[in-house]
Amino acid sequence: MYKWFYINGSVLFLAILLVYLRYHGLHMIIGLAGLGVILYNWTRHAVFSAIRTHPNRQTKIKFAQTSKKMLPIHKWTGTSSLLLILIHAFLVIKHYGWGVYSLKIITGLFALLILILMVSSGWLRWYRTTVNRRYLHWVLGFILFFSALVHIMSR
Ligand code: HEM
Ligand code: HEM
Repeated sequence: MYKWFYINGSVLFLAILLVYLRYHGLHMIIGLAGLGVILYNWTRHAVFSAIRTHPNRQTKIKFAQTSKKMLPIHKWTGTSSLLLILIHAFLVIKHYGWGVYSLKIITGLFALLILILMVSSGWLRWYRTTVNRRYLHWVLGFILFFSALVHIMSR
């Protein structure tokens, strides 16, 4: 029922821990902020899945109302996450160049590519919803979640 809330919370906790243990500068804090905002938007999926599976009708309604209230800022938080990650990538490249931490940079660039597609599909969906756009935004959400996880775990 609430499993996605715990999963998202654990990923954020893991990222905070890694930044604390490996701290090398501001680029990491900005990466963490970007991840935080991505997870905030991804929590929409956790809310929807809780609505689907919760046995109590009153709680379902409460979730649905909260979700509706959160919607107007969804597109702006989603777009800001892209901005934060672009700053993160810019600072990383300025700091290290392209060569060092190559696996980290490849997994990061992959996650960035998915994030760009995610934000674009979000705007397309906002402009006009079709079944395909809805599905695309949903599938990309999963791919983004796992590619961000692989990126923070890689060295
Ligand atoms: C959705 C996209 C991205 C997210 C959510 C993200 C998030 C993060 C976070 C939270 C960290 C700090 C924790 C850790 O070291 O594991 C980090 C580190 C790092 N990221 Fe990203 N990142 C993204 C994209 C990128 C891109 C595009 C690049 C490369 C251009 C990149 C390169 C790096 C590197 C090299 C580090 C290690 C920095 C260090 O140890 O000093 N990331 N990222
Ligand atoms: C990090 C970026 C983003 C993530 C992780 C994300 C995630 C999600 C998730 C999980 C849903 C619910 C999917 C469903 O079950 O149908 C959703 C819905 C939606 N998203 Fe995004 N999104 C992001 C960015 C954006 C952006 C930039 C826009 C721009 C307009 C956008 C527009 C929408 C719209 C219109 C909906 C449908 C809302 C509704 O009626 O419930 N998203 N998003």
